[in-house]
Amino acid sequence: MTRKINVAVFGAGYVGLVSAAGLAAIGHNVVCVDIDATKVSKLIDGEIPFYEPGLSELVLKCVANGSLRFTSLPKNAIAHGEVLIIAVGTPPLEDGTADLSQVLSVAKTIGGQLEKYAVVVVKSTVPVGTSDLVTNEIARAMHEKSLSVDFAVASNPEFLKEGDAVNDFMKPDRIVVGTNDQLAIEILREMYQPLCLNENTLMVMDARSSELCKYASNAMLATRISFMNEMANLADCVGADINEVRRVMAADPRIGAKYLNAGAGFGGSCFPKDLRAIAAMGDEHGCSLELVASVISVNDAQQSVLLEKAKYSIGSLKGKRCAVWGLSFKPDTDDVREAPAVALIHSLIAEGATVVAHDPLVSWLSMYSSLPTEIFSIVDSPYEAVVGADVLFLVTEWEQFRNLDVSQLIEKMQNPVIIDGRNLWSNIDFTQTEVKYIGIGRHSFTANKASASVQLRAG
Ligand SMILES: NC(=O)c1ccc[n+]([C@@H]2O[C@H](COP(=O)([O-])OP(=O)(O)OC[C@H]3O[C@@H](n4cnc5c(N)ncnc54)[C@H](O)[C@@H]3O)[C@@H](O)[C@H]2O)c1
Repeated sequence: MTRKINVAVFGAGYVGLVSAAGLAAIGHNVVCVDIDATKVSKLIDGEIPFYEPGLSELVLKCVANGSLRFTSLPKNAIAHGEVLIIAVGTPPLEDGTADLSQVLSVAKTIGGQLEKYAVVVVKSTVPVGTSDLVTNEIARAMHEKSLSVDFAVASNPEFLKEGDAVNDFMKPDRIVVGTNDQLAIEILREMYQPLCLNENTLMVMDARSSELCKYASNAMLATRISFMNEMANLADCVGADINEVRRVMAADPRIGAKYLNAGAGFGGSCFPKDLRAIAAMGDEHGCSLELVASVISVNDAQQSVLLEKAKYSIGSLKGKRCAVWGLSFKPDTDDVREAPAVALIHSLIAEGATVVAHDPLVSWLSMYSSLPTEIFSIVDSPYEAVVGADVLFLVTEWEQFRNLDVSQLIEKMQNPVIIDGRNLWSNIDFTQTEVKYIGIGRHSFTANKASASVQLRAG
């Protein structure tokens, strides 16, 4: 029988809200606090501030049975929690380092108001050494308020993926706890016990290793993506098909099938920022991370691959009408932070094109909201977006886009050119249609270049 633990979660974002609901669902008594009062009042009204499959149902269920509550008053949360989880943002600063101001501000608030023992858990993704900074910040704030209460700090990085976050949280492959404090380990073991499939799920280690493992994991996944994008670019140049190459590679159990899809580059709120943060951490410690730097630069270059393919295919984009399918950085989320589609739209507009976009969840992009609708608009249906278009870009591989109605495209588009940034339609045979289809790494881009060079050599 699990002991019901009083937990406070700071931050009602993707990680904080999922963690709060997940911990409530396994029997704990959770208070979730956010400084964004509008977000909190929406949550109190049962409105979830972002889309995450299964989250709304879970939150509503836990609120209804009293195991989950929301507040904008940190005081209430601190008074409630035996475990205080910090799950606030750590956005990148100009130099790539992680901005710890939100994390340290929560630590200061905790230190200034803590009245009983608590385990302070750092769930945000933070550079190595942050647990020490959090400990110092709490101690300093306590000293200023002449408080003297025992507390422990533990690193507990989160590995959930947006789009499958609830599932990831409820069925974790591993839970990492980084601290040397035995009481904190015991409490966190109790708290996570219902989520541990076996005794190996919970991995206890020192805080520094725990902090580094999150960055190392994301850097590894991003490396696979950039590697495959680099191979795809080579496949385009030499006239090979990256799908066939991937099929062979994935069959090798030493390699495996995941994160091997070539595409328009990775985005989102984690990979780009975490890679820049780990690179900056390396520089700061005199340990230059050459591989990570290459992964970043390959990905930066990949952001312009779709644009280049379009220009190669139809020439100048000035005055051309471009349809974009998919705005979120990946399917099943409405998160557009560092989304490849946002970068593509920026470039298309800079080239003088007009853009009509569609996404199943995203109906507004704040960064382009001031543009006139003749230049950029988001419409409700994918086939509305292609009306009169010279080119269609598929940027996010939403399941809804998989079954393509080719005849509608031909009927509605000015020139049916498809740039498939995720090889979503690579199984469709377009050869008998008037559609010009261009995928990623499928010898469709520079096949002419490749055959030309073969002819030259032969000649
Ligand atoms: N999003 C992901 O998929 C993911 C996965 C694993 C780890 N992470 C990491 O988790 C952390 C949070 O990410 P996120 O995507 O949930 O961020 P988010 O931006 O969605 O949410 C952060 C929330 O914290 C709130 N906040 C800021 N300061 C606060 C304070 N002082 N008190 C209370 N609330 C405060 C904000 O208002 C916001 O609602 C980051 O470090 C991120 O790198 C994110």
